[in-house]
Amino acid sequence: MDWGMENRMSQLIQSDGHCMFLPIDHGYFQGPTRKLEQPSKTIEPLLPYADALFITRGVLRACVDPQNARPVILRVSGGASIIGKDLANEGLAASMEEAIRLNVSAVGMSIFVGTEYEKESLLNLAKLVDEGEKYGIPVMAVTAVGKELGKRDARYLALCSRIAAELGARVVKTYWCENFEKVTTGCPVPVVMAGGPKTETEREVFDFVYDGMQKGAVGINLGRNIWQHEHPVAMAKALRAIIHKGATSKEADEIFKEDSAAPARSRSRRK
Ligand code: 5RP
Repeated sequence: MDWGMENRMSQLIQSDGHCMFLPIDHGYFQGPTRKLEQPSKTIEPLLPYADALFITRGVLRACVDPQNARPVILRVSGGASIIGKDLANEGLAASMEEAIRLNVSAVGMSIFVGTEYEKESLLNLAKLVDEGEKYGIPVMAVTAVGKELGKRDARYLALCSRIAAELGARVVKTYWCENFEKVTTGCPVPVVMAGGPKTETEREVFDFVYDGMQKGAVGINLGRNIWQHEHPVAMAKALRAIIHKGATSKEADEIFKEDSAAPARSRSRRK
């Protein structure tokens, strides 16, 4: 691996081999997503807990202080909206030149395997990898399911993740599922887990993240279950304990309960 590529990868995946990415890119197709209406307000208290931000160039420029940022994974696909005809109909929406100008650690885009736009998104991934490799910028592929959340089973996600890796993605972001080891063992590059829509209880999140880590994920790229929660910082701390401190889901739940019960002033002191 070339120095630049290796250096960028090490900004993303920490020395323990694990990572906690914070995605706040949802507005690129959903508009002002709940609790992300004013991104800077959402991001600021969570920055200390994120190893990297997954974000679009617009929100990066407008809402993130360049002097107090975390490594950036730039979302470079777009062109579809939640009210449009087909979420899978995305293209590349930012150039590699722009990624370099923004000094990012990686770029990320969605692939839509099994949809009408499968070929287009896969060839866009290949194109992005060609460009990224030229400049030492890793590509994170996002195995998107659009509105079809039911597609999240091991067979489908293993297929998508492997295809993304074969096309040259350096990291694959996919969903946790039952038998998650099928996804990780079939994917020769690091796999991170997304969270999906907010769950009923925080324990559900800790359980699947812990299970996924045991089964070979290197970390998470998990958004709504953190920042749509009424205690986002407590969620971030608890998840970080699973990712970087080897906590079980029960221990994470205890961290969450203790932190969310503490008065705001003592919480910020204990950061
Ligand atoms: C949306 C994305 C998100 O980065 C990804 O889905 C993770 O966020 P969440 O945990 O909220 O699902 O790709 O465009």
